[in-house]
Amino acid sequence: MSKTIYILNGPNLNLLGTREPEIYGSQTLTDIEDMCREAAKADGYDIGFFQSNIEGELVSLIQEAGQKSSALIINPAAYTHTSVAIYDAIKAISIPCIEIHLSQPAARESFRRRSFVAEASVGTISGFGAKSYLLGLQAAIHLLEADA
Ligand code: DQA
Repeated sequence: MSKTIYILNGPNLNLLGTREPEIYGSQTLTDIEDMCREAAKADGYDIGFFQSNIEGELVSLIQEAGQKSSALIINPAAYTHTSVAIYDAIKAISIPCIEIHLSQPAARESFRRRSFVAEASVGTISGFGAKSYLLGLQAAIHLLEADA
């Protein structure tokens, strides 16, 4: 089993730190990446951490995750609520997917209540700020070790 876990980030998450900090917190995506890398390393895993504002690039990265990693953690950002292409890409790979969000979309605007990605994921972690990433990582490692 590959000891790599992919963590993918969708549109506007490159602006974390300055983007609506009252909702998304003050940590940058690089801060979150560093935190995840360190936590994964402590458990003997590497991470591939990527962000794109482009739906098709995320589809390609999901396909790559299916080849190069054992589990996928994804914060699809706004594409959560719109993207059949991302849903299809997750369904097309055979590794487990965990959906994560910094905020709690279900407690926000009604258009955020629908998640296409949830329908292709093992589970969802949302509402814990940057900690959602670490909880997602724990969930992924738990799944992989339970499977081993
Ligand atoms: C988000 C929630 C989405 O609804 C939103 O479009 C985002 C970020 C989150 O992490 O809370 O861009 O995925």
